[in-house]
Amino acid sequence: MGPGGISTEIAYVLGQTGGLSRTPADVFNTVYLVFLILGTLVGVVVIGYTLTKAWRYRDDGERDDESESDKVVRPVLGHLPTGSGGGKKLFVSFGISAVIVLSLIVWTYSALLFVDDTPPEVAAEGEEPLEIEVVGKQFNWEYTYPNGHTEEPTLYIPEDRPIRLKVTAADVWHNYGISEFRVKTDAIPGQTTTAWFVADETGTYEAVCYELCGSGHSAMRGDVVVMEQEEFEEWYANTTDGSTSASVNSDVTGDTDANANTNAADPAATEGEA
Ligand code: CUA
Repeated sequence: MGPGGISTEIAYVLGQTGGLSRTPADVFNTVYLVFLILGTLVGVVVIGYTLTKAWRYRDDGERDDESESDKVVRPVLGHLPTGSGGGKKLFVSFGISAVIVLSLIVWTYSALLFVDDTPPEVAAEGEEPLEIEVVGKQFNWEYTYPNGHTEEPTLYIPEDRPIRLKVTAADVWHNYGISEFRVKTDAIPGQTTTAWFVADETGTYEAVCYELCGSGHSAMRGDVVVMEQEEFEEWYANTTDGSTSASVNSDVTGDTDANANTNAADPAATEGEA
């Protein structure tokens, strides 16, 4: 089975895929939905069966032991219960449960195994992912764009375009996540993890650190701004190699906002990889 082959099918059946091909968020949502439906189904069957039996064998004070003993095998103290049909019912229900559980394990595992890989369809559609490097450090996130521009702590991205993140850390272990886009990946010094997603709606979301990393952990969060594609291209064209937004570390650099986009007039900026 290819990467999430069945999940893709189910995702299509359930209408989980948008304009773009299967994203990790699609896979997670599909897995969640399948488990929710199956779990509810099993719950209804089990609770329904229990209630039916409880009602059927209720003690209404009119039990006639003589006639009941014909159809019901009641356990007798000191005897092993034989069950009805020589345990066939038990065997069948156990078999069905085993098949369901094993199928779920295999399906879920195969769907999640390749969830972080950008599927070939994305490249085939000419949707070259925008690759952004993310560095976690106590207590902020720094983003580096393909043209060398760095930005922190806000991530600016275009909508409807695959975003590929390469995540690492500069000091201790962090964990990078944007819950809205079902993104969550370790940020570990000396290692690079990847995650990809597609933001299908403009707006401001939040990137959060999901691993206790020190006294500033709970404040280690930054905005994720999703812009319309043209708006993003315009913004991106105004960034250039090595330029850095200076909204943070003001204690180090002194001046703040003055640095932002001062290179807009630089001819190099116009070559932008838009
Ligand atoms: Cu970084 Cu918690």
